[in-house]
Amino acid sequence: MRVLGIETSCDETGVAVYDSEKGLLADALYSQVAMHTEYGGVVPELASRDHVRKLIPLIREVLADADIDLSELDAVAYTAGPGLIGALMVGASTGRALALGLGIPAMAVHHMEGHLLAPMLEENPPAFPFVALLVSGGHTQLVRVDAIGQYELLGESLDDAAGEAFDKAAKMLGLEYPGGPLIAKLAEQGDRTRFRFPRPMTDRPGLDFSFSGLKTFTLNTANNCRDEKGVIDPQTMADIAAAFEDAVVDTLAIKCRRALKETGLKQLIIAGGVSANRCLRERLETMVSAEKAQLYYARPRFCTDNGAMIAYAGCQRLLAGQQSDLTILAKPRWPMASLPPL
Ligand code: KG4
Ligand code: ZN
Repeated sequence: MRVLGIETSCDETGVAVYDSEKGLLADALYSQVAMHTEYGGVVPELASRDHVRKLIPLIREVLADADIDLSELDAVAYTAGPGLIGALMVGASTGRALALGLGIPAMAVHHMEGHLLAPMLEENPPAFPFVALLVSGGHTQLVRVDAIGQYELLGESLDDAAGEAFDKAAKMLGLEYPGGPLIAKLAEQGDRTRFRFPRPMTDRPGLDFSFSGLKTFTLNTANNCRDEKGVIDPQTMADIAAAFEDAVVDTLAIKCRRALKETGLKQLIIAGGVSANRCLRERLETMVSAEKAQLYYARPRFCTDNGAMIAYAGCQRLLAGQQSDLTILAKPRWPMASLPPL
């Protein structure tokens, strides 16, 4: 089965063609980051308008790359939520209409299920069951995954998501949006021992997270380090970035270890934008090897938003005989645990 995947939930237009027998045939991404940077974050109306401009040319480009034409598609999968409503509507209406016009099924895909399954696009994918850490700009969740659509939420952030915390801390240090990769880069030059940031909620049982206190801690630390002109010297900036990254990564690793122990499972997958973070991958590799467990993740460009994960996730549900009705489905909020099993 050959599926066109469309992702427009936030600030990246992603399109891909996945073939259930041959694997990924082509994928392309247009990032709106440069446009939103000027405003320090995603401007929803601008995001929607840009998806309108970029989506159809990107579909054409991906079909050309895959060397197929529209008539050779068997289905269309589009991100139906969660995300920005205007942005979602662009992909949902285009995807649904395209499938209707071609007389093929459409599948409304949950964005976080897409992220969750992205490591399946790599060689040696994990086998069910496993524990998943979903860390994106909007979500931080630990999930027990027994099969596609069988998700048990083990814990989640009570306030900011991990990616959001990275972005806000970056803003406090005067870095551009999105700050996650910039903090990570700065942290490479930092001294991880100069400042010690808290590891929120690790001193009590449970698998929930809270990252908003780290934000305040970052702000106070930064303000204490400013000179009379309000400037922070470059080494101190790097040291703060390193201490912040260390605290987030350590907190995530402590909870992942706890989740493996509580479930008795020996496989951990990480997905979502923050799973591209090198320090997180290294810390978790060390943790899982001590636990005699295995860590799985996608290549960096499939950690952040992309069309391939949507094509893949949609394809799995379509292969199981599911398909969405004629509704143009766009849901800004959509709990993953409400998805049907295969
Ligand atoms: O999954 P994603 O592309 O979009 C959402 O579904 O939210 O995640 C984007 C988030 C942003 O907050 C970004 O700063 C963060 O992932 N991010 C990173 C890194 N790359 C992306 N955070 C830390 N280190 C990175 N290398
Ligand atoms: Zn995402």
